[in-house]
Amino acid sequence: MHNMIIMGPPGAGKGTQSERIVSHYHVPHISTGDMFREAIAKQTELGKLAESYIKSGALVPDEVTIGLVKERLSQDDCKNGYLLDGFPRTIAQAEALKKLTKEIKREVDCVINLNCDYGALTERISGRRVCPKCGASYHLVTKKPKVENVCDSCGSTLVQRPDDTVEALKTRLDAYENKTKPLIDFYKKEGLLKEVDGLQSIEDVFLDICNALEGK
Ligand code: AP5
Ligand code: MG
Ligand code: ZN
Repeated sequence: MHNMIIMGPPGAGKGTQSERIVSHYHVPHISTGDMFREAIAKQTELGKLAESYIKSGALVPDEVTIGLVKERLSQDDCKNGYLLDGFPRTIAQAEALKKLTKEIKREVDCVINLNCDYGALTERISGRRVCPKCGASYHLVTKKPKVENVCDSCGSTLVQRPDDTVEALKTRLDAYENKTKPLIDFYKKEGLLKEVDGLQSIEDVFLDICNALEGK
């Protein structure tokens, strides 16, 4: 079974690798960040609530995020596996996930931790451009679109994410250090953690992830 989590600091390449993992293993990609951004674009109640937290780089409150994932993971398409990206991000979220997945018999069996140093993260985040329409992600240097500033998949003009500013990034990195990093030990103790060097090329990171998932 592929009940997976991909973890790592902001800009480590979680979204980039998730795209490849889900098309290789045919499981749904559950990114809480993407779910919040969609809700913000549609200005739903959830979107209105999450917007100010996300813009500043702070974490959305646990009860909101946990509720969202609970609903999503219980859906039918997760019965043969799933990939969580950006969740859990706090010990409280990890505990809630453990309880929930036990109840619905969809327990996590592998946690990929993408390692990346802060210099590289800053470069990746400042060069990132995203498609506001389909969510595709690019980079000015390492993953250029075919036509400058235009999405390969849908032709929309690319934009920067509102939380990819120097200020918000500082808050995101602090949140990572203080709240998310302790999850590395949490999953080590559970015997689920697989470390992957996220500083390699996009292709090499993916190869290492596949090897880790297949227990090589
Ligand atoms: P989220 O959307 O999850 O953002 P994040 O964790 O900050 O991570 P990013 O999406 O910025 O980076 P990534 O690791 O996906 O990197 P990517 O592949 O794009 O969360 C956003 C916000 O939502 C949070 O701050 C919080 O407010 C809220 N939120 C979400 N989940 C929450 C939760 N559980 N609890 C509470 N709040 C929550 O890559 C980055 C760039 O690098 C791209 O340009 C890419 O092309 C490039 N790149 C990728 N890999 C490589 C490589 N190997 N070599 C060179 N370049 C590369
Ligand atoms: Mg992402
Ligand atoms: Zn697009």
